[in-house]
Amino acid sequence: MSIKVAVLVGSLRKDSFNRRLAHAVEKLAPDELAFEHVAIGDLPLYDQDLDGNYPVPWTAMKQQIQAADALLFVTPEYNRSVPGVLKNAIDIASRPYGTNAFAGKPGAVIGASIGSTGSALAQQHLRNVLAYLDVPLLGQPEVFVQFKDDGPVDADGNITVDSTRKFLQGFVDRYVAWVHAILQR
Ligand code: FNR
Repeated sequence: MSIKVAVLVGSLRKDSFNRRLAHAVEKLAPDELAFEHVAIGDLPLYDQDLDGNYPVPWTAMKQQIQAADALLFVTPEYNRSVPGVLKNAIDIASRPYGTNAFAGKPGAVIGASIGSTGSALAQQHLRNVLAYLDVPLLGQPEVFVQFKDDGPVDADGNITVDSTRKFLQGFVDRYVAWVHAILQR
């Protein structure tokens, strides 16, 4: 049976390195994983006054997460934290209180930046948020990828550096095992 993975990429940029990284990881995964990117760019900002009457785009995004078996977060680092657009989507899908769409779904956090720390600090913040939201997160390997325009992943999600391919394959293998362990399939 196919395992549906909801992918949340924290960048809206057309040529996003983080989206490239997501595609690279997806290509390394076995066919049993079906990846679905969650659109987070056009969501109205979260407003608690609307908890009793959730706007249609919020409900649709939340249902997409509820329907997934597993989660993959791919985040850039903005000013040493998670981009607001990603945090907004997480806040929406976690509410109203008691209806958190993420709870119990196995997940992982990875990311890329042009800086040498590869979005490590943003990922650390995101791990904290997701721990609160009851997401069982893969601990290792941590994936901090430094991007340049020419790699290590091209615009089509092809990995251009052998050591990166080997490292990301190791991540994918651990992620798949983690998802199976949590879902007990
Ligand atoms: C950045 N960038 C950045 N990089 C980093 O390593 N640490 C940081 O704190 C920040 N802060 C930051 C803030 C803002 C507002 C922007 C726009 C950028 C650079 C960032 O890593 C780079 O733009 C990446 O290319 C963003 O990821 P995507 O859009 O390529 O996926």
